[in-house]
Amino acid sequence: MNQQRTISGFSKLSKRGKIKWIVQNFFKDPEVVAKELKSYWLNNEAQQKIIDGFSENTISNFYLPYGVAPNFLINDETYVIPMVTEESSVVAAVSKAAKFWMSRGGFKAEILGTKKVGQLHFSWNGDVEKLKQVFKELTTKLKADAQNITANMDKRGGGIQEIELVDFTETEPNYYQLRCNFETCDSMGANFINSCLESFGQTLTQFIANHPIFSAAEKDVLVIMAILSNYTPECVVRASVECPIDQLGQFGEIDAETFALKFYKAIRIAEIDPYRAATHNKGIFNGIDAVVLATGNDFRAVEAGGHTYAAKDGQYRSLSHCSIENGIFKFWLDVPLALGTVGGLTSLHPVAKRSLELLGSPSAANLMEIIGVTGLAQNFAAVRSLVTTGIQKGHMKMHLINILNQLEASEKEMKEAVVYFKDKVVSFSAVREFINSYRLSVVGFERN
Ligand code: MEV
Repeated sequence: MNQQRTISGFSKLSKRGKIKWIVQNFFKDPEVVAKELKSYWLNNEAQQKIIDGFSENTISNFYLPYGVAPNFLINDETYVIPMVTEESSVVAAVSKAAKFWMSRGGFKAEILGTKKVGQLHFSWNGDVEKLKQVFKELTTKLKADAQNITANMDKRGGGIQEIELVDFTETEPNYYQLRCNFETCDSMGANFINSCLESFGQTLTQFIANHPIFSAAEKDVLVIMAILSNYTPECVVRASVECPIDQLGQFGEIDAETFALKFYKAIRIAEIDPYRAATHNKGIFNGIDAVVLATGNDFRAVEAGGHTYAAKDGQYRSLSHCSIENGIFKFWLDVPLALGTVGGLTSLHPVAKRSLELLGSPSAANLMEIIGVTGLAQNFAAVRSLVTTGIQKGHMKMHLINILNQLEASEKEMKEAVVYFKDKVVSFSAVREFINSYRLSVVGFERN
């Protein structure tokens, strides 16, 4: 193969042209691969065009399963929650947790705040006391100059809220920032916030250059950058469940009291040990990310904010907490979620639109509640398995099915394998061995 590994003008090639170049230079069987990549294109050209519009240099679609978790009772409303995830057991686990809590009063969710954050970072060598003196005048000007951007958001009850001057000069010479809060209503608000901040950059520069309080030597501001922060400690939802310990029921050989104690200890461990906290919170995001994706929201933003929040007191800790007091078991999760239910992908992606419809066209705050609860449900299910049967039992069953699919097992072979592996360790080689010998025995049987 005469490989050409670099190219200029790739983005200008047609989709077929891109595939041609890729398969000819990177695959042993170009025609087969080209056909396969094209086989994942949508038949509906208009829909394919919409999907292609989300990104650049698209050559195919990458499919992930779209599942639903029924039986969620949240603040006395029932929901079926859409989830997009490639990880087996996640949807089954939340569904099980939803059913468990359905008969124990369901989940509660409460919005602790909806403020989003943006920052204008700048370098300035001036007298900060003078800037503080005229800061009120500056904030009025910042808001007035951004009015063309904020008019619609103001009408919807949102807009620019507090603007604070943060002085970092002790750690970085001349470095300040305007840290600003925004209310973005039902939109995630990234574009809105960034546009406001860029406008702030211009206003600040002009304000300092023209204000008589500053000397000639203080007139120059160097705007470093204007960008939202994905850390939103005041855009937080609390999801919770609680019930008397004796209503928790029996978990195999484990009684309710022992279960509650083991569960409580498991959460304490995640509160005090970052190694465990990372895995524990990953489990929470198994649930959260799946709904964030299904509703066309930005899961990287949500993850970044969640993990930063988990470290807000200087040590990375569990996002969920548990208490046992006066015979009552309580389990809750506080998590920042910067979400939108209008604009962006939420209204462009055809399946994301259906997800929101399935959820009853929620407001962004309502979606925070639903997603926070899904995170809590996932965490409950994972920790319940860990402190009772162990995690492998459920995982291995799904793992087995995945391996069997990979080996193109027939339905009969699947059934036989599930019975055979009930009390055995599942590994790719063990399953392959089982299938090979099963196929041989069937052939032998048919011959005889
Ligand atoms: C696996 O994806 C997630 C878990 O590891 C979470 C946890 O340990 O709590 C099961």
